[in-house]
Amino acid sequence: MIRQSLSCLAGAVLVAAAAHAGPAEPGTEHHAFHEAVSLSIDGLEALPPDPSNRWADDPAAADLGHRLFFDQRLSVNGSVSCASCHEPNREFQDGIPLAKGAGTTDRRTMPVAGTAYSPFLFWDGRKDSQWAQALGPLESAVEHGGSRAQYAHVIATHYRRDYERVFGAMPDLRGVPAAAGPVTDPAARSAWERMPPSQRDAVTAVFVNVGKAIAAYERHIQYGSSRFDRFAAEWKRTGTQPREILGAEERAGFALFQGKAGCTQCHNGPLFTNNEFHNTGVPRRAGLPEDRGRLPAVAGVKSDEFNCRSRWSDARPDECRELDFLAPASAAQERAYKVPSLRNVAERAPYMHAGQFASMAEVLEHYNRAPAAPAGRSELRPLRLSAAELRQLEAFLRTLSGGIAAPAKFLMAPAPEQLGQRAQSRQ
Ligand code: HEC
Ligand code: HEC
Repeated sequence: MIRQSLSCLAGAVLVAAAAHAGPAEPGTEHHAFHEAVSLSIDGLEALPPDPSNRWADDPAAADLGHRLFFDQRLSVNGSVSCASCHEPNREFQDGIPLAKGAGTTDRRTMPVAGTAYSPFLFWDGRKDSQWAQALGPLESAVEHGGSRAQYAHVIATHYRRDYERVFGAMPDLRGVPAAAGPVTDPAARSAWERMPPSQRDAVTAVFVNVGKAIAAYERHIQYGSSRFDRFAAEWKRTGTQPREILGAEERAGFALFQGKAGCTQCHNGPLFTNNEFHNTGVPRRAGLPEDRGRLPAVAGVKSDEFNCRSRWSDARPDECRELDFLAPASAAQERAYKVPSLRNVAERAPYMHAGQFASMAEVLEHYNRAPAAPAGRSELRPLRLSAAELRQLEAFLRTLSGGIAAPAKFLMAPAPEQLGQRAQSRQ
């Protein structure tokens, strides 16, 4: 749907591009052309399969995942769902610096769109799939706050029929405590430790499938096409930079973005991210525990209970190559954070991993000054752009808004009677 792909932008264009053949020198029109085409959403590759989740592309799993994403019963207090923080009408985030669930977290909510393309999830990349990611907040004391035994009971009571249609028979949960799991709550944790291993596995299997259903839903949440993409497509079609789609200020901003401001060093490709982790000297947020970013997360993802090589994954070991490519822990990972997509960025202030900056102007001011990092070493250098140039860059970033591309039903909360009641009433 978002990928009408290159096919409709016929071969004539490629001929036009080839006519400029030769190295694309930065600062030249030729270089700018290549950058525009490579950033265009039309160039986004087809969604790669997720071998770790056998149900990733199963429509019934996505429907179930949609309902689970909005179901507040999957929380310790009956009032938190994924959608509490990831609101579909706010770019699947919440617009506040530090996310609030059962408590307050130490980081800002990230948008969900396009994350099916991310090899590593979270600001520090401590999870290696969407389904493994989804299990984190469910057992975090400050987010959903519940436990996997509680969630297995919710599924058995409210979603049994739909769950079994996708995943097969529900395990027998007789004797499973109402709250039990490897969580911080001491009562739930000791209840978990007292359960026999076979019973723990039965509960964990249901919990894992909750994550896999939610991931099947999230795979449908993608970025829509923006004004910038029309600009790039038209440029590609005609071989000449179009002047009517973006204004002069916006075009000057694009020249800076991929030219002297060096933004495409990290924000590149159709999602405006290299999917890597970098230290950009973002200041600490007062009052939070020390946050070292990527550094501890590399070991974390390798030993994660739910990683691609775990027994809960559906992948063969050779399908988990991302885990092999992980750089060993090094000083460069100190306070390195995931490079966020810049699509729709103007619509989702505040910015950075702990909402340190309230506006895009503040973000650009940071890039312009490139202060020393609070720990580790910032990869930025001062840009020394003028106030007018900063305004141009901001104007360009605003051309990247194109909404969310997803089936309309997935952008709305499911009807209340769909939240498990359907399954219940048929029993
Ligand atoms: C209390 C608010 C809150 C709730 C509830 C919540 N999240 Fe998040 N989400 C966050 C925060 C904060 C982060 C970043 C955390 C970090 O990096 O440590 C995040 C990160 C993510 C990411 C990573 C995106 C990326 O680019 O790497 C995804 C995907 C996501 N959440 C999906 C979910 C799903 C699915 C659920 C429900 C099972 C959920 N979230 C529940 C706040 C929340
Ligand atoms: C060295 C890699 C790198 C370069 C170069 C870079 N960025 Fe970033 N950008 C990042 C990282 C990493 C983050 C997230 C940092 C954090 O949260 O601590 C980020 C965050 C952002 C954000 C906030 C997005 C959000 O959702 O919070 C914006 C806006 C942004 N960058 C724009 C730019 C612009 C404009 C330029 C060029 C002037 C640029 N970036 C250059 C790596 C880079």
